[in-house]
Order: sequence, then structure tokens, then C-alpha cells
Amino acid sequence: MKRKVLSAILIAAMTLSLAACGSKEAPADTQAPAEAEEPAADAEEPADAEEPAADAGSGDLITVGYAQVGAESDWRTANTESFKSTFTEENGYKLIFDDAQQKQENQIKAIRSFIQQEVDYIVVAPVVETGWETVLEEAKEAGIPVILSDRMMDVSDDSLFEAWVGGNFVKEGETCGDWLADYLESQGRGEEEINMVTIQGTIGASAQVGRTEGMANKLAEHSNWKMLDMQSGEFTQAKGQEVMESFLKSYDDIDVVICENDNEAFGAIDAIKAAGKTCGPDGDIIVVSFDSVKAAFESMIAGDLNATFECNPLHGPRVAEIIQKLEAGEEVDKIQYVDEAYFDTSMDLEAILAERAY
Ligand code: AHR
Repeated sequence: MKRKVLSAILIAAMTLSLAACGSKEAPADTQAPAEAEEPAADAEEPADAEEPAADAGSGDLITVGYAQVGAESDWRTANTESFKSTFTEENGYKLIFDDAQQKQENQIKAIRSFIQQEVDYIVVAPVVETGWETVLEEAKEAGIPVILSDRMMDVSDDSLFEAWVGGNFVKEGETCGDWLADYLESQGRGEEEINMVTIQGTIGASAQVGRTEGMANKLAEHSNWKMLDMQSGEFTQAKGQEVMESFLKSYDDIDVVICENDNEAFGAIDAIKAAGKTCGPDGDIIVVSFDSVKAAFESMIAGDLNATFECNPLHGPRVAEIIQKLEAGEEVDKIQYVDEAYFDTSMDLEAILAERAY
């Protein structure tokens, strides 16, 4: 909004000066110079009939376009809620929210629409890591800062985004592998041949890439662990169930299923029970997953899920802090990892669940 105010002032000033000179030619450069983006603090938004509809009436609010992945999981619902409850008019923001339904092309369209609407900031939780350069260059050209949240983008030029905040997905995968080693040891199965399958997340998403990589690092440390198969469950419960059904048909000796999010685990547990098998600490198959949403605690309390490795979705306030620092002209850390824990059935899960925010 501030950028637009300044552009309007500069364009008006240029028009007046050209009129005074009697020139009929438009100047080649009628854009506000990049370094002069901050207007006087008390500059008012002029009444402007040419403002795009979505920006109309935002007053002094900071307009933020959020290109969300979709609504595929409990985690994602909590993440959306975190943004919607943070970027409110009471807090000084106008949020334009877009649900990409897990499709990168929809996110690219949303980012282009945010650029066209001249938002003040673009926030993206990218569906996958690659394929963003062109649209980020368009945002940069338009002078709109881009902040990445949750998943990462793989771009050659890191000046295309201001900052990223999210979980350390490789570390989450490694924590899962370390937990599994300790758990098997505690069960007297440390030296036993262990057959595993993985229900991966959306292929190419940094949450999938990192968790798979972290677990692969731990697999390399245990010659008695065998990964029988890996297939994507798209981070959804329905697909998690479908993939587990197919694993159970192909392999009759699965010891461990690693689900790259909790919702896939809920589907996998349904598939295991439907196949007449059991799971959890007292069952045939060890089930572990990532996210640590409330329903995962309920599943552990019910004795179905063994452990869940946390991925914190409450990024709304973290992104707001980055925006406030940028507004104040302060430096922000480019890469900001969030601290994350894990939870298993040896803990007082009822007490933890009672305090859980998501
Ligand atoms: O990027 C974070 C992952 O995306 C979460 O693990 C998952 O639930 C979500 O869909």
C-alpha cells in the first residue's frame, strides 16, 4: 500500500512537471525508484478508482497474500487457522488467502494475482521445492517482498525471497530413525531383521524430501533394517489408507510403517485393522508419523500409533514478526528453524494433549 501511495505521488508530480514543460511524450520511466519505496509516515492512501477490487478499502492495513498448499491434513488446517487469526484487521492486516488444492500451478496463479492486486507482502508455503524462479522474479520486479513459510523452495538466487520459517525436515526424519533404534533396542529387537515401508508425502515437497532423507541417513546406520517399499500418500488420510492396503497385499512381514504425516498414519491404521492385523505398542506393526496434531495423541492413547515427530504449524505470528521487522527496516534472519519435539506412548499423553494448541 505504501508503495502504491508513493507511486501515485511520483506519477502525479511527473505529470504536473511534464504538463508545465508542455511535453506530449510520456517519460520512459514512470515507476517509483526501488530505493524510494518508503513514503512519509503520514502519507494517506488517495481515493483511487483504479485500485484493484481486492485492495479496495484496506486503508492503512498491510495487505498480505498467502498462497497456501491446500487443506490436506489436520496440520494444514492448524496452519491456515494460525494465519487467519494472526493477519486480522484488528492486528493491522488485510489477508488475501488462496487454497491451491495441492497444485503448484494454482499457487503460481495465486502469486500472479497477488502481484496484480499490488499486495504489500506475498507469503508462500510451496507445494513442491522446484519451479518457482519465474514467478518470484515477477514479484521481485513488482517490488513485492516474498516470505516463505513451512516448506522450502529450491531457487538458485536467494534474493528472490526475504526469509523462510519452518521445521527442519531432515532433522525430523533423523529423530524418527533414532527413536526407532532406541525403541527396537528396548524391545530386544536391536539385532533383528526389521522390514519397513514408508508412506511418503507429496513427492518433491520439502517435508517429503527432508523426512525421507533423514530416515535414509538412519537406515544407512542399521544394516538389519530393510526398506521394502516407499510410495506417496499425498499427505492425506484417504491416500495413506490406499497405499497401506496395497503394501499389505504385497508384503506379509511388515514390521514398521513410517508415515510422513499423521493423517497418512490414521489411514494406514484403518488399513492394518481392516486386514485383520494389529498395530501400536502391543500390535504386529509399529506405526510412526510426523506432525503431532491432537488426533495423533488420541491415536497413541488408543494404542494404535507408537510415536509422532513434531512439525509445528503455528507460523502466522512468526511470519507477522518478519513482516514487522521488514516494515521497520530491520534485518531478518534468512533461514529460521522452529524447535520441535517428539511424543510416544511412554509419556503422559493425556496431560500433554490437554495443553496442546493444535
Ligand atoms: O509441510 C508440512 C507438511 O504438510 C505436514 O507434515 C503435513 O501434514 C502437511 O500437509
